[in-house]
Amino acid sequence: MSEPYCHNEEGEYCFREPRIEDGLHIHSLIERSKPLDLNSLYCYLLLTDHFRRTCVVAERDGHPVGFISAYVHPSKEDTLFVWQVAVDETVRKQGIAGRMLENLVQRPGLGFVSYLETTVNPSNQSSRFLFESFAKRLRAPCTTSALFSEDLFGDTDHEAEILFRIGPFGSL
Ligand SMILES: CC(C)(COP(=O)(O)OP(=O)(O)OC[C@H]1O[C@@H](n2cnc3c(N)ncnc32)[C@H](O)[C@@H]1OP(=O)(O)O)[C@@H](O)C(=O)NCCC(=O)NCCS
Repeated sequence: MSEPYCHNEEGEYCFREPRIEDGLHIHSLIERSKPLDLNSLYCYLLLTDHFRRTCVVAERDGHPVGFISAYVHPSKEDTLFVWQVAVDETVRKQGIAGRMLENLVQRPGLGFVSYLETTVNPSNQSSRFLFESFAKRLRAPCTTSALFSEDLFGDTDHEAEILFRIGPFGSL
Protein backbone atom coordinates (compact mmCIF):
# COMPACT_ATOMS: atom_id res chain seq x y z
CA MET A 1 0.00 0.00 0.00
CA SER A 2 1.23 3.51 -0.80
CA GLU A 3 1.74 5.70 2.29
CA PRO A 4 -0.84 8.50 2.78
CA TYR A 5 1.83 10.85 4.26
CA CYS A 6 5.17 12.07 2.93
CA HIS A 7 8.37 12.29 4.93
CA ASN A 8 10.48 13.82 2.19
CA GLU A 9 13.19 16.49 2.39
CA GLU A 10 12.51 20.09 1.29
CA GLY A 11 12.34 20.38 -2.51
CA GLU A 12 12.02 16.62 -3.04
CA TYR A 13 8.99 14.92 -4.55
CA CYS A 14 7.01 12.18 -2.90
CA PHE A 15 4.34 10.01 -4.49
CA ARG A 16 1.48 8.84 -2.33
CA GLU A 17 -2.19 7.95 -2.16
CA PRO A 18 -4.46 10.99 -2.03
CA ARG A 19 -6.36 11.88 1.13
CA ILE A 20 -9.59 13.85 1.38
CA GLU A 21 -7.78 17.04 2.49
CA ASP A 22 -6.20 17.10 -1.01
CA GLY A 23 -9.61 17.47 -2.68
CA LEU A 24 -9.58 21.28 -2.97
CA HIS A 25 -5.96 21.37 -4.22
CA ILE A 26 -6.70 18.69 -6.80
CA HIS A 27 -9.81 20.52 -8.02
CA SER A 28 -7.77 23.70 -8.43
CA LEU A 29 -4.90 21.83 -10.17
CA ILE A 30 -7.31 20.31 -12.71
CA GLU A 31 -8.95 23.72 -13.26
CA ARG A 32 -5.50 25.14 -14.20
CA SER A 33 -4.59 22.13 -16.38
CA LYS A 34 -6.12 22.82 -19.77
CA PRO A 35 -7.46 21.00 -21.78
CA LEU A 36 -8.72 18.72 -18.98
CA ASP A 37 -12.46 18.72 -18.19
CA LEU A 38 -13.07 20.10 -14.72
CA ASN A 39 -15.34 17.83 -12.66
CA SER A 40 -17.12 18.84 -9.46
CA LEU A 41 -15.25 19.17 -6.18
CA TYR A 42 -17.49 16.38 -4.89
CA CYS A 43 -16.17 14.09 -7.64
CA TYR A 44 -12.54 14.76 -6.58
CA LEU A 45 -13.46 14.18 -2.92
CA LEU A 46 -14.92 10.79 -3.86
CA LEU A 47 -11.75 9.94 -5.78
CA THR A 48 -9.55 10.83 -2.80
CA ASP A 49 -11.66 8.63 -0.55
CA HIS A 50 -13.25 5.66 -2.38
CA PHE A 51 -10.59 5.39 -5.10
CA ARG A 52 -7.43 6.40 -3.18
CA ARG A 53 -5.77 3.00 -3.70
CA THR A 54 -5.77 3.55 -7.47
CA CYS A 55 -5.07 7.32 -7.49
CA VAL A 56 -1.79 9.11 -6.83
CA VAL A 57 -0.63 12.55 -5.69
CA ALA A 58 2.84 14.00 -6.28
CA GLU A 59 3.70 16.24 -3.36
CA ARG A 60 6.49 18.76 -2.90
CA ASP A 61 7.02 20.93 0.18
CA GLY A 62 3.65 19.89 1.57
CA HIS A 63 1.61 20.72 -1.55
CA PRO A 64 0.14 18.45 -4.23
CA VAL A 65 1.76 19.36 -7.58
CA GLY A 66 0.51 16.36 -9.55
CA PHE A 67 -2.47 14.04 -9.58
CA ILE A 68 -3.66 10.95 -11.43
CA SER A 69 -7.16 9.57 -11.08
CA ALA A 70 -7.57 5.94 -12.05
CA TYR A 71 -9.67 2.91 -11.24
CA VAL A 72 -9.72 -0.80 -11.97
CA HIS A 73 -11.82 -1.29 -15.11
CA PRO A 74 -15.20 -2.67 -13.99
CA SER A 75 -15.23 -5.41 -16.63
CA LYS A 76 -11.48 -6.07 -17.09
CA GLU A 77 -10.03 -6.95 -13.72
CA ASP A 78 -6.38 -6.89 -14.90
CA THR A 79 -6.71 -3.36 -16.33
CA LEU A 80 -6.14 -0.02 -14.64
CA PHE A 81 -8.01 2.77 -16.40
CA VAL A 82 -6.28 6.14 -16.06
CA TRP A 83 -8.82 8.96 -16.15
CA GLN A 84 -7.06 12.31 -15.63
CA VAL A 85 -3.38 13.21 -15.34
CA ALA A 86 -2.29 16.70 -14.29
CA VAL A 87 1.04 18.20 -13.32
CA ASP A 88 1.38 21.82 -12.19
CA GLU A 89 2.67 23.94 -15.08
CA THR A 90 5.69 25.11 -13.06
CA VAL A 91 7.08 21.57 -12.68
CA ARG A 92 6.25 19.94 -16.02
CA LYS A 93 8.79 18.01 -18.13
CA GLN A 94 10.66 16.81 -15.04
CA GLY A 95 9.31 13.28 -15.17
CA ILE A 96 6.62 13.79 -12.50
CA ALA A 97 3.74 12.30 -14.55
CA GLY A 98 5.87 9.31 -15.53
CA ARG A 99 6.84 8.74 -11.89
CA MET A 100 3.19 8.92 -10.81
CA LEU A 101 2.33 6.20 -13.34
CA GLU A 102 5.23 4.10 -12.03
CA ASN A 103 4.03 4.56 -8.46
CA LEU A 104 0.63 3.18 -9.44
CA VAL A 105 1.79 0.07 -11.30
CA GLN A 106 4.37 -0.73 -8.59
CA ARG A 107 1.88 -0.71 -5.72
CA PRO A 108 1.86 -4.09 -3.98
CA GLY A 109 -1.93 -3.91 -3.73
CA LEU A 110 -2.19 -3.61 -7.53
CA GLY A 111 0.01 -6.59 -8.43
CA PHE A 112 -2.90 -8.11 -10.40
CA VAL A 113 -2.79 -5.26 -12.94
CA SER A 114 -1.00 -6.08 -16.20
CA TYR A 115 -2.64 -3.56 -18.58
CA LEU A 116 -3.11 0.19 -18.43
CA GLU A 117 -5.75 1.96 -20.48
CA THR A 118 -6.38 5.64 -20.97
CA THR A 119 -7.81 7.98 -23.56
CA VAL A 120 -5.92 10.72 -25.34
CA ASN A 121 -7.23 13.63 -27.44
CA PRO A 122 -5.63 13.61 -30.92
CA SER A 123 -4.19 17.12 -30.41
CA ASN A 124 -2.73 16.48 -26.93
CA GLN A 125 0.89 15.73 -27.79
CA SER A 126 2.28 15.79 -24.24
CA SER A 127 -0.31 13.24 -23.14
CA ARG A 128 0.54 10.96 -26.08
CA PHE A 129 4.30 11.30 -25.40
CA LEU A 130 3.72 10.48 -21.74
CA PHE A 131 1.94 7.18 -22.43
CA GLU A 132 4.18 6.15 -25.36
CA SER A 133 7.27 6.76 -23.26
CA PHE A 134 5.74 4.84 -20.35
CA ALA A 135 5.00 1.84 -22.61
CA LYS A 136 8.60 1.92 -23.85
CA ARG A 137 9.97 1.93 -20.30
CA LEU A 138 7.79 -1.08 -19.50
CA ARG A 139 8.81 -2.73 -22.80
CA ALA A 140 5.10 -3.31 -23.35
CA PRO A 141 3.04 -3.03 -26.55
CA CYS A 142 0.85 0.05 -26.93
CA THR A 143 -2.21 -0.24 -29.17
CA THR A 144 -4.68 2.48 -30.06
CA SER A 145 -8.33 2.37 -31.14
CA ALA A 146 -11.26 4.77 -31.31
CA LEU A 147 -13.33 4.95 -28.11
CA PHE A 148 -15.51 8.08 -27.97
CA SER A 149 -16.01 9.90 -31.28
CA GLU A 150 -16.47 13.67 -31.39
CA ASP A 151 -20.22 13.46 -32.14
CA LEU A 152 -20.83 11.67 -28.80
CA PHE A 153 -19.97 14.96 -27.06
CA GLY A 154 -22.80 16.86 -28.81
CA ASP A 155 -22.00 20.51 -29.56
CA THR A 156 -19.60 20.91 -26.64
CA ASP A 157 -16.59 21.31 -28.96
CA HIS A 158 -14.94 18.26 -27.36
CA GLU A 159 -12.34 16.31 -29.31
CA ALA A 160 -12.59 12.56 -29.91
CA GLU A 161 -11.02 10.31 -27.28
CA ILE A 162 -8.60 7.65 -28.56
CA LEU A 163 -8.15 4.57 -26.39
CA PHE A 164 -4.54 3.64 -25.58
CA ARG A 165 -4.01 0.12 -24.21
CA ILE A 166 -0.56 -0.66 -22.81
CA GLY A 167 0.44 -4.19 -21.82
CA PRO A 168 0.79 -6.87 -20.83
CA PHE A 169 3.59 -5.66 -18.53
CA GLY A 170 5.44 -7.16 -15.61
CA SER A 171 7.37 -5.22 -12.99
CA LEU A 172 9.47 -2.20 -13.95
C1 LIG B 1 0.56 15.72 -19.86
C2 LIG B 1 1.23 16.08 -18.54
C3 LIG B 1 0.49 15.40 -17.40
C4 LIG B 1 2.70 15.57 -18.60
O1 LIG B 1 3.29 15.78 -17.32
P1 LIG B 1 4.87 15.88 -17.15
O2 LIG B 1 5.19 15.68 -15.70
O3 LIG B 1 5.36 17.12 -17.78
O4 LIG B 1 5.37 14.62 -18.02
P2 LIG B 1 6.77 13.90 -17.88
O5 LIG B 1 7.84 14.92 -17.54
O6 LIG B 1 6.65 12.72 -16.98
O7 LIG B 1 7.02 13.43 -19.38
C5 LIG B 1 6.76 12.12 -19.83
C6 LIG B 1 7.32 11.99 -21.25
O8 LIG B 1 6.58 12.79 -22.15
C7 LIG B 1 7.40 13.76 -22.77
N1 LIG B 1 6.68 15.03 -22.79
C8 LIG B 1 5.85 15.53 -21.84
N2 LIG B 1 5.37 16.73 -22.25
C9 LIG B 1 5.91 16.96 -23.47
C10 LIG B 1 5.79 18.01 -24.40
N3 LIG B 1 5.01 19.07 -24.16
N4 LIG B 1 6.47 17.92 -25.56
C11 LIG B 1 7.26 16.86 -25.84
N5 LIG B 1 7.42 15.81 -24.97
C12 LIG B 1 6.75 15.87 -23.81
C13 LIG B 1 8.63 13.88 -21.88
O9 LIG B 1 9.76 14.29 -22.60
C14 LIG B 1 8.76 12.45 -21.37
O10 LIG B 1 9.37 11.63 -22.35
P3 LIG B 1 10.65 10.74 -21.93
O11 LIG B 1 10.14 9.86 -20.79
O12 LIG B 1 10.93 9.97 -23.17
O13 LIG B 1 11.71 11.67 -21.50
C15 LIG B 1 1.28 17.63 -18.34
O14 LIG B 1 1.80 18.23 -19.49
C16 LIG B 1 -0.10 18.23 -18.02
O15 LIG B 1 -0.53 18.28 -16.86
N6 LIG B 1 -0.80 18.72 -19.08
C17 LIG B 1 -2.14 19.33 -18.92
C18 LIG B 1 -3.20 18.29 -18.62
C19 LIG B 1 -3.21 17.17 -19.64
O16 LIG B 1 -3.20 17.39 -20.84
N7 LIG B 1 -3.24 15.92 -19.14
C20 LIG B 1 -3.15 14.72 -19.96
C21 LIG B 1 -4.47 14.22 -20.42
S1 LIG B 1 -5.16 13.03 -19.29
